[in-house]
Amino acid sequence: MSAESNGTNGANGTNGVSVTNGVPETVKIAESIKAKGPAVEVPVALTACNLKAVPALAQSIASLGEKAASGSEDARLELVEHARSLVRALETPRETMIKHCWAQPASDTAIALGVDIGLFHLLAKDNGSAKNAKDLAKELAVDPPLLCRLMRHLSTMGHIIEVGPDQYKPTSFSNSLTVPIIGDGYTCIFGGCAASLYKFHEYARHNNYRTPNSISDGSLQWAYNTKLNFFEHLQANPPYGVQFNHHMGGYRQGRPSWMDDGFYPVKERLLDGADTASDAALIVDIGGSIGHDLDEFRRKYPDAKGRLILQDLPLVISQIVKLDERIERMPYDFYDEQPVKGARAYYMHSVLHDWPDEADVKILTRIKEAMKPGYSRLLINENVIPLEKAQWEATALDIMMLTLLSSRERTEEDWHTLIEAVAGLKITKIYTPANGVESIIECELVA
Ligand SMILES: C[S@@+](CC[C@H](N)C(=O)[O-])C[C@H]1O[C@@H](n2cnc3c(N)ncnc32)[C@H](O)[C@@H]1O
Repeated sequence: MSAESNGTNGANGTNGVSVTNGVPETVKIAESIKAKGPAVEVPVALTACNLKAVPALAQSIASLGEKAASGSEDARLELVEHARSLVRALETPRETMIKHCWAQPASDTAIALGVDIGLFHLLAKDNGSAKNAKDLAKELAVDPPLLCRLMRHLSTMGHIIEVGPDQYKPTSFSNSLTVPIIGDGYTCIFGGCAASLYKFHEYARHNNYRTPNSISDGSLQWAYNTKLNFFEHLQANPPYGVQFNHHMGGYRQGRPSWMDDGFYPVKERLLDGADTASDAALIVDIGGSIGHDLDEFRRKYPDAKGRLILQDLPLVISQIVKLDERIERMPYDFYDEQPVKGARAYYMHSVLHDWPDEADVKILTRIKEAMKPGYSRLLINENVIPLEKAQWEATALDIMMLTLLSSRERTEEDWHTLIEAVAGLKITKIYTPANGVESIIECELVA
């Protein structure tokens, strides 16, 4: 039977992978590769991964420790990398496997439940004094043995501190889980999204190992048996939509911001020459969620003249609880005509990476139509993945995009291809202060 008669994507899939009797060639290749046996014998999996590297790593950790403790952020980040390398060198492959397959997912489960029931709020009370898990369980109306087991694992993972049988104290991490922008990521990602990541290998086989490119027919829809896109899926399953808004608020914290000195020249490129009339729009934040970016701008540039306008889908705008009153809330679908014409800047943060090129061209075209020649700028705040030595947060986000939205993080070449696909729009400059930091991709209308 030919692939066509199978109803698959042709005798050769669009990626050139042939399909016979519904089985992609990739699967047959994998079987023949694995039939030749493992790459190493079992004892390798039971031996520390790289003991030879341990002394040098331990030494550099010791020398960086003082600097990090005295407040050097660079030393702290370097130390984290060295400490991770040290753990990888010391662990056996089997230990790493058990950590990945059991310990981490189990810990994610316990954290998500703890966030959901307010466990970490109670644990933090009374200045974090030691508390008994059974007493906490009674207060939370949870079966005590259930909570005791979950807390026991949280303590073995170092997330809370065991001070006696069923007695625990919080850590800085567990206290931080009480902040919605930190804690809500666990419930939303593990409850609303994770099946899409964990089943991606199944979906990829079903999709004949093509790169997915449909936001409404990808791994998420496969895993959750839905036709809704990622945003619709979360909003249709409360409270994941609201929690996702909080999670987005958390992602951006503690990272260099384009509004700070040494990143994007806000004064020269945005404020100087901006129309100061009371009805002139300074920044339109498109897909701005509950307004964290404009809120930051208002705080950092309290005297900047001009309107700050927050646009997102009506449901998201209705979920705003607290926002500076000077920021206008505007329900808007970015596939529709842009109602705010001739703004100084149209701004999008982590929006275009959600969508495939074809959809992005439509979104960008709506913006281009509203831009004023020689005046308006489009500021895209996103990752520009370098050709080598990409940073792990950016590569992780890329896989999240792949599995949740069939989209991706882009390289500089990808950005040029996308922007140049919108006739009349060009990239003027890409501002990137450091590897792993989201860039500002500044665009203007072609003169
Ligand atoms: C990944 S979030 C980024 C949010 C925000 N810019 C930030 O960086 O925190 C993408 C945003 O796009 C919004 N969005 C999705 N589809 C949209 C549409 N058709 N029109 C307007 N906004 C949309 C979502 O509601 C969400 O707030």
